[in-house]
Amino acid sequence: MYRCRDCGYASLQWFGRCPQCGRWDTFTEFSEKRAGAQTISTPQALPEIPLEETQRCPTQIAEFDRVIGGGLIPGSVLLVGGEPGIGKSTLLLQVAAQLAQHGPVLYISGEESPGQIKLRAERLAIKETNNLLIVHEQNLSAIRDHVLQTRASAVIIDSIQTVFPEGEGVGLGTTYQVGQATFELSQLARAQKIPIFLIGHITKSGEFAGPKAIEHLVDIALYIEGGRESDVRIVRAVKDRFGSTEEIGVFQMTESGLVEIANPSKFFTERIGPVPPGSVIVPTLEGTRPILVEIQALVAFTRSNYPQRRATGLDLNRVALLLAVIEKHLGAQISGEDIYVNVAGGLTLRETAIDLGVAAAVVSSFKERPIDGQTVVVGELGLSGEVRRVKKLRERLTEAAKLGYKRAVVPAGEKFDMMGMEICAVRTIREAMEALGV
Ligand code: TYD
Ligand code: MG
Repeated sequence: MYRCRDCGYASLQWFGRCPQCGRWDTFTEFSEKRAGAQTISTPQALPEIPLEETQRCPTQIAEFDRVIGGGLIPGSVLLVGGEPGIGKSTLLLQVAAQLAQHGPVLYISGEESPGQIKLRAERLAIKETNNLLIVHEQNLSAIRDHVLQTRASAVIIDSIQTVFPEGEGVGLGTTYQVGQATFELSQLARAQKIPIFLIGHITKSGEFAGPKAIEHLVDIALYIEGGRESDVRIVRAVKDRFGSTEEIGVFQMTESGLVEIANPSKFFTERIGPVPPGSVIVPTLEGTRPILVEIQALVAFTRSNYPQRRATGLDLNRVALLLAVIEKHLGAQISGEDIYVNVAGGLTLRETAIDLGVAAAVVSSFKERPIDGQTVVVGELGLSGEVRRVKKLRERLTEAAKLGYKRAVVPAGEKFDMMGMEICAVRTIREAMEALGV
């Protein structure tokens, strides 16, 4: 048979151009042993199927365990994706060191030499143990042998893009290669009842197949996110076959590896000295987790015909819309001003519940009136200047109360008591700015 090196399309006939992916000169000959129907499966009635208890083994890295639903499930495959340099190898070497306390852990690198990994381990001050085994290997059948011989209780593959599956003529970094390697490794995980971690690089060019191409094959898919200027790293689950994908883990990349940020709200809102104009604390929601963050705005007069509009950690289109709402419904003449809006600490916020906070920051900077440092602001803004309700308001305010905030400006509609906190319900952007004194 012939198979396309890129997409894996197989046919008895040779093609100059692959009918599936359209690439030229990718067809190579291969032979396949016909396996036939080996296992005879029998359908079972639902009540006859025993409930399988899933035992989770925690990694003892709390922020990581939170994202994977409490701990690792034997036989599962976890994908850890992220851009090159974000900290995938660092995180997984730290996880490997934790797991090595309970049994042999095999770290298979197709990218770095054992010497390089040793250097990283030194930097991370990892407790050296004979249970942490490192090997440089790219060949899948050799990887399988290593896993069986070492009786590894957990395996890390760094990265899936460097694993050669069986069969000749498979192009490295192609969709077919990563798919086939993932499929075979997940069978190995199931057979050995061990967790296998796959690192996957996100590449900007479409040339290489990234982690997206194998998300459907794995049990849990995580991504490490973080800005170039920031040392904050968010681990986010986008898929979890065993639980929710709502949780995030927050880390900071330091000189000695990733350090958990156990109290992100405190971390993202730490302010020194008096509160300047343009700074607002917003209780945002990351998955199901309320996190307080500081939004900063700088509004400065410019003589330019083209005033600047910049946003870091926020969607610039949304900011533009909010600026229009401010101009129209508060009558603030901000169109001739340079406006910069920024989420402190390097987080990226996607929800509309922060609208009112962004608007308050802009107005506060424009009028050069600071907003009280004990107040939090939350609410979505509609085009007619109305403040709309947000989900999980109670959870957001509970987090704010926990950190000692005394007052909250929130959308009108829900009635409840918050111990020790003054709730200020507003209907419009105008009411909100009055309540905030800006
Ligand atoms: P790395 O884990 O190699 O990234 P990836 O595997 O995702 O490509 O880490 C990348 C960056 O992290 C690198 O620029 C160096 C930095 N780093 C630290 O700041 N502190 C550390 O302790 C380590 C190990 C790396
Ligand atoms: Mg790496």
